[in-house]
Amino acid sequence: MDILSGKKLLLGVCGSIAAYKVAQLARDLTLAGAQVDVVLTAAAERFVGAATFQALTGRAVLSDMWELPEDGVIGHVSLGAQADAIIVAPATAHTIARIAAGMADDLLTTTILAATGPVLIAPAMNPLMYANPATRANVATLRARGLTVLEPEEGRMAEHVSGKGRLPEPARLEGEIRALLGRHSGPLRGQRVVVTAGGTREPIDPVRFVGNRSSGQMGYALAARARDLGAGVTLVSGPTALPAPAAVNVVQVETALQMRDAVQTACEHANMLIMNAAVADFRPAAAAESKIKKRGDGGLILELVPNPDIVAGFAQRRDLFKVGFAAETDDLLANAQGKLERKGLDLIVANDAVASIGRPDIALYLVDHEGITPLPRQPKTEAAAALLDAIVARYTAWRANRTQA
Ligand code: C5P
Repeated sequence: MDILSGKKLLLGVCGSIAAYKVAQLARDLTLAGAQVDVVLTAAAERFVGAATFQALTGRAVLSDMWELPEDGVIGHVSLGAQADAIIVAPATAHTIARIAAGMADDLLTTTILAATGPVLIAPAMNPLMYANPATRANVATLRARGLTVLEPEEGRMAEHVSGKGRLPEPARLEGEIRALLGRHSGPLRGQRVVVTAGGTREPIDPVRFVGNRSSGQMGYALAARARDLGAGVTLVSGPTALPAPAAVNVVQVETALQMRDAVQTACEHANMLIMNAAVADFRPAAAAESKIKKRGDGGLILELVPNPDIVAGFAQRRDLFKVGFAAETDDLLANAQGKLERKGLDLIVANDAVASIGRPDIALYLVDHEGITPLPRQPKTEAAAALLDAIVARYTAWRANRTQA
């Protein structure tokens, strides 16, 4: 189930031109199943009207502290206590200063002062205002109190100046909200997870490579789900056409050797490795320094040498929960069991390569030292989330066993 489903989110909007982006965010969060209550500051109402947010969220928009709500509690103090998370986006320098000072002079600041759950602040302002020591100190104060304050993005501002002050795009904000909820109460909170995705490219010469058809979709979806469940996620990715998931540390690599080095670094302090990448088994013995020319009608013989097995290199790391994948055309489960042992894995996810290619659905099998558990055949779009949940269940049991031992 989507982590946003049924969540109560309070979205505070301040007076900045970036408020228009947050209308899209309010819609996306609502479509994902969250209940979104929007609180506008007085200045926000000059940029985006309450009717816009009301139509997008299907909920009354709040801005007046003195308007009597249904529960009869003036000041809507209960709003902050009931919310699963409070998001202030865009947050202006002025509202950040008011929150830092502990003021309660409008509905938004009153709500935040009475908040019990996590708070995410997404500043957006003129770059000079953001760089001002007063704002820097206020941001530091909020962070020291445990609020999450995003860094604004760099780029061109509405006033035709460039610098650091832009509100991140709605997709990034949504990812940060998912990460915030996960870090607060998800089953992977406090855990570090490394996911690999996509295929590797092994250079033949400066313009050609040996590669494979992996799209990276499964790995990217697993990384996003691990983030949603609260993990700090590093995604080591071969080249793909996919956008980087928000609130995930993405390390881009090309070759198997680069992937090995990146995975080794990322796993130094990790608790789990999900090795979903389609690593090339072989690479050209040497990449030509300049483009290989066609010589008459003659062919070309490429000498290939084996790549190191990345996941097998972690067999001795007993403190790392290791998940591998096996897409097979024959003897699916026997081959998967062989790889589980040979590569020193805790779990391997097997699927029949022929029965899944070009189909919208997929049947997965979880193979571990206890036995084989099939997951129901389901649309590929849902399979990644279901798979990650099944991996987390195994991981939780594995951790419990380790602490007992
Ligand atoms: O290619 P194979 O079927 O052996 O892959 C099984 C698992 O081993 C996968 O999880 C894959 O990511 C991993 N692997 C690896 N390094 C390689 C080849 C495969 O970590 N060189």
